[in-house]
Amino acid sequence: MKKYTDLQDIDNIEALVNEAIQLKKNPYQFLDLGKNKTLVMLFFNASLRTRLSTEKAARNLGMQVIVMNVNAAWELEFEEGTIMNLTASEHVKEAAQVISQYADCIAIRAFASLTDKEKDLQEMVLSSFQKYASVPIVNMESATAHPLQALADAITLKEFSGKKKPKVVLSWAPHPKALPHAVANSFVQMMQLLEVDLCISHPKGYELSDAVVKNTTVIYDQEEALRDADFVYVKNWSSFQSYGQVLSQDPTWMMTQEKLGTAKFMHCLPVRRNVVVEDAVLDGPNSLVIAQANNRTYAAQIVLKNLLENQ
Ligand code: CP
Repeated sequence: MKKYTDLQDIDNIEALVNEAIQLKKNPYQFLDLGKNKTLVMLFFNASLRTRLSTEKAARNLGMQVIVMNVNAAWELEFEEGTIMNLTASEHVKEAAQVISQYADCIAIRAFASLTDKEKDLQEMVLSSFQKYASVPIVNMESATAHPLQALADAITLKEFSGKKKPKVVLSWAPHPKALPHAVANSFVQMMQLLEVDLCISHPKGYELSDAVVKNTTVIYDQEEALRDADFVYVKNWSSFQSYGQVLSQDPTWMMTQEKLGTAKFMHCLPVRRNVVVEDAVLDGPNSLVIAQANNRTYAAQIVLKNLLENQ
């Protein structure tokens, strides 16, 4: 692995998941691998899990970690050939080259704007760093993808699945704010790599990008989609067609214990209780959300380990 910006950077998902599960049993066995190596984490958006689990993963490998909240500290310019007479202090061309001298790996979080679809699809922040940095880049959630979350989800699914080909449902849920598509996109793409029976359920108007969905089944009737599900992954996203719009807050799409039945419940967190999912589900025995969050460390650690081994 030379970088981890999307799921295409994984050669063999089954092997990587198994490697992560082994690593989890003895997470400090590669403490020498990251000696005298530095991970720089750049946050253009806030985080709890990604920030702490990625830092923990790097420290488990013996790396040093530097964290910068970019927007609060330093405004960067990304447009080519622009006249920089406004608020940005520095162009990414210089910044990425400079940071590369301090880092052996740069991890970046930069969400979608949800206002400019074209720019979001171009992944301007992530792709600019890829273009100008000279060290590997890790995606800690970009405009269109959250591959570290999807890898943690794949690890969790493997740990909790008793079936060769479980039925997995990605179910949209209501939310008061417009949320990006990154988690849903990467979850769908990850499930397409695994041996699962996947379907997506959401109200009309919430279709994900055709490039992501491909031939995955979409069922608009949530009750029908949930029938015989083994795993139910709940997530809100805003409309992709009416880009970034909240078209519905229909509370009947909230996940309840009655709807979940015996299926396992998954969510990337953070989650709004009794809006996205009712308390009984989150507090019940079938919720995997804490295990998923724990696996964020081992997802990040297996990615960093692979990058360090290939440097
Ligand atoms: N799931 C996830 O990425 O959480 P944070 O936004 O807290 O990092």
